[in-house]
Amino acid sequence: MKQDSTETRRVIGDILALHAHNGLLGQDLLLPVLHAIQDRLGFIPPDAVEGLAQSFNLSRAEVHGVITFYHYYKTTPPARCTVQVCRAEACQSMGGDALLSHVQQALGCDLHAHTADGGFALEPVYCLGQCATAPAIMINDAVHARVTPQRFDRLVAKLSTKAEEVA
Ligand code: FES
Repeated sequence: MKQDSTETRRVIGDILALHAHNGLLGQDLLLPVLHAIQDRLGFIPPDAVEGLAQSFNLSRAEVHGVITFYHYYKTTPPARCTVQVCRAEACQSMGGDALLSHVQQALGCDLHAHTADGGFALEPVYCLGQCATAPAIMINDAVHARVTPQRFDRLVAKLSTKAEEVA
């Protein structure tokens, strides 16, 4: 999600105003505000840290420390597609390791990372409820079962085609 910086400032300003009580923001509201920002923008823009620190009467280092302490918070824009590969037992016993290796090679990135163009993020997941039809992956909100390396390549090719049509 590409955000214009003026729009980003407006979104964060609205979130701060929504959480303030009588114009004041207690430090206990930092986490709810960060959650709200991530929900709206998909990440916490690094250039928002200074403004947040001022709003909460904290140092930049304190706000940065909170953001980096929780893995939930992202500091880079979300990838267009998130690929989650199941790493739980049933999928591992049905070729999940080989599938993960293929996915990493095909995308050119490791787990917990983005592709260089920001198009794909690769994350592990621990059971998608498809154990009987393992190995399973999820691409954005769609679960795919019995995924072979060839099927993965076809799914990614389809996504790439759709992205080109939209662009
Ligand atoms: S173990 Fe992978 S879907 Fe259940």
